[in-house]
Amino acid sequence: MPKIAVLPGDGIGQEIIPQAVRVLKAVLAETDAEFEFQDYPIGGAAIELVGKALPDETLQGCREADAVLLGAVGGHQWDHLPASERPETAALLGLRKGLNFYANIRPVRMIPSLLATSTLKENVLDGVDMVVIRELTGGVYFGEKGRSDNPRSAYDKMTYSEEEIRRILIQGFETAMLRSKKLCSVDKANVLETSRLWREIANELAKEYPEVELTHMYVDNAAMQLVRNPKQFDVIVTENMFGDILTDLASMLGGSIGMLSSASLSGTQGMYEPAHGSAPDIAGKNLANPLATILSAALMLRYSFGMEAEALRIESAVEKVLEQGYRTGDLAQAGDKVVGTIEMGDAVLAAL
Ligand code: NAI
Ligand code: MG
Repeated sequence: MPKIAVLPGDGIGQEIIPQAVRVLKAVLAETDAEFEFQDYPIGGAAIELVGKALPDETLQGCREADAVLLGAVGGHQWDHLPASERPETAALLGLRKGLNFYANIRPVRMIPSLLATSTLKENVLDGVDMVVIRELTGGVYFGEKGRSDNPRSAYDKMTYSEEEIRRILIQGFETAMLRSKKLCSVDKANVLETSRLWREIANELAKEYPEVELTHMYVDNAAMQLVRNPKQFDVIVTENMFGDILTDLASMLGGSIGMLSSASLSGTQGMYEPAHGSAPDIAGKNLANPLATILSAALMLRYSFGMEAEALRIESAVEKVLEQGYRTGDLAQAGDKVVGTIEMGDAVLAAL
């Protein structure tokens, strides 16, 4: 029986994950497939419970699972801890690295019924449909870091090996082959040596994918172009930190950070989580948008279990509730009727 490890984590993670699990169970109940769901603590919640952000039992449970569903981790109460103990570093980066989830896939799509609620102009956004592929287990987030006194200083080292670059670029080329065959590789090759190696390898690989039109763009320009004319992009591939920042920006091209889902793949396993964090400012108030997590659950069915029809059912249900006018606060304009996290989950279940 396929196993799903469920890791709600902190803040709104505790509210959005139950909605995604309800939706998954409802869809799976109508198939012959039987799945086992097992909850594990992670992040600050795990620190409170067992004194460790990534308990061994959680890591082991994820290793043994076929797929992992994660909410979010972190909160200001744990900000003072050293990096080796903090939820974001010890738990989230630890899990990504520990299970080798190197390929993070973030689909950015403007759902037509959200056009009017966007903070950007409709003609810029109408038809936005792209995928950002972010390298997830290398770069500066995982480099050696440290501090010195006298003079007071700190450093974070950025390193990429050929193998790390090659495998994420291959993911980019393969994704482009399945879509419009346009791949934009985003780097900072005018300044960073890691980016120069990145660009070299991209150009080498391009010879193996003659059908793909490869372009290169500097990350600062990419940030501007994403807002100026997002429809020029189809597949973007980039390193860890650039992808982190660009996808928060790109989330607004899909209406809200509360809409941006993600799949993180290792080649043998997948982890699925919304792109946003634990949103302490709205946590515990039934205000969070659960749709990014529900859409991440759809990605799980697609990528980990090959259940394309069921993934599409969830995605259609989400589009339907948005057409019906259901809006959490992050998607609402003046005059919209705002629903809570649970009511949004109810609406998706009803639409299914
Ligand atoms: P955040 O993504 O949690 O929140 C940014 C803003 O977006 C906030 O105003 C929040 O209310 C809003 N927001 C986020 N998700 C939402 C949703 N589903 N529905 C409605 N509004 C939503 O980023 P922030 O505030 O920078 O970080 C908060 C904590 O989360 C920090 O501890 C941070 O380290 C952690 N974090 C964890 C991540 C993860 O677990 N994958 C990713 C990003 C941040
Ligand atoms: Mg982020």
